[in-house]
Amino acid sequence: MIPLNAPDFGALEEQYVLDALRSGWVTTGPYVERFERAFAAFTNRRHAVACSSGTAALWLALMALRLPQGVPVLTQTYTCGSVLNAALRATAASPLVVDVDEDTWGMRADHAEEIFQKQRISALSFAHIYGVPCRDTADLLGLARTYGVPVVEDASEAHGAAINGAPAGSFGEISVFSCRGEKVVGGGQLGVAVTDDAALARRVRQFSENGLPAKTVRYWSTVPGLNFQPAHLNAALACAQLERIKELLASRRAIHDGYVARLAGYAGLRCQRTRPSDDSAWWLTGVLLEPAFTAMLPQDLGAALAERGIQTRPGFYGLHRLPHAGDVGPGPWPMADRLLERLLILPSGPTVTPEQQDEVVEAIMEITGRA
Ligand SMILES: Cc1ncc(COP(=O)(O)O)c(C=O)c1O
Repeated sequence: MIPLNAPDFGALEEQYVLDALRSGWVTTGPYVERFERAFAAFTNRRHAVACSSGTAALWLALMALRLPQGVPVLTQTYTCGSVLNAALRATAASPLVVDVDEDTWGMRADHAEEIFQKQRISALSFAHIYGVPCRDTADLLGLARTYGVPVVEDASEAHGAAINGAPAGSFGEISVFSCRGEKVVGGGQLGVAVTDDAALARRVRQFSENGLPAKTVRYWSTVPGLNFQPAHLNAALACAQLERIKELLASRRAIHDGYVARLAGYAGLRCQRTRPSDDSAWWLTGVLLEPAFTAMLPQDLGAALAERGIQTRPGFYGLHRLPHAGDVGPGPWPMADRLLERLLILPSGPTVTPEQQDEVVEAIMEITGRA
């Protein structure tokens, strides 16, 4: 089988996890603090607060910002559904969503501006999809400043990416990452929020610890927090991955470049692109299958590849298509719809070999009648 995105866990991960296990710390523990210190340095931020998932980090960030209730978050429609759920729960309002650009598949600032001109917004949240820095990052930050709203940068898929040399995770009031097992930095189930604002970091921690403001006063809770604390074992795993980040990024980049080279020259195939000034983390490599290449839909091609033991995955459903989204704005969202209809994500985890990439591309060509 050629897996979509198997993690690369080696000797260092084994060493740290075993060390954590033998330490007797079972809930939190020293690896959590070590992970937070390392992650703050990695993203050039003063504070990092680890938590149980990227979804938790998003919810915690939005709660810690104390957003006005009933006022929507503005975000992109092409992203993980957890953004919708966190925004719904933190503001009791459907987020407003805009389309993404054709190259980086990130939030479009021109569409965002149209919404800002017409509606009150509580916060802006944009993502670097599949590790590729959002093309309009600078313009989105400018809009947020103009309209006086805080920014939550969702770098869940973009550990190690950079925009004009500045790391993903260093933009806006607060940034969040998922460190789920198959992410660039994988820690099983884990997330982290990073910020330069000490008070904001404190509130994130408080909301993640059942609302307890300080460990000194036991069982005294002052806000409706939940338990989203990270586990020691997961933090140990993520510490090892973070130490190996250069190697892990190099594998993902080589795999991305390998697919681009193998697919070059075929009309109707299109990969995601990053701006020359930016560095992508190339978390996953996907290909848009246009009708000029094949009439086959990605899900049918994905099913045929699965029969040959090759795992793929489809694009996200735009948030505007999710049944519980509510009124997410007027649209239109053609690029997000195109990604849903035409995108196929290829096996691109750090363990994929060049020979496996040959096999994947040959299988695609055979199934679509090109070989
Ligand atoms: C862009 C984005 N935001 C948030 C999340 C949520 O992270 P988690 O799965 O760790 O809850 C994900 C998913 O993995 C994601 O891809």
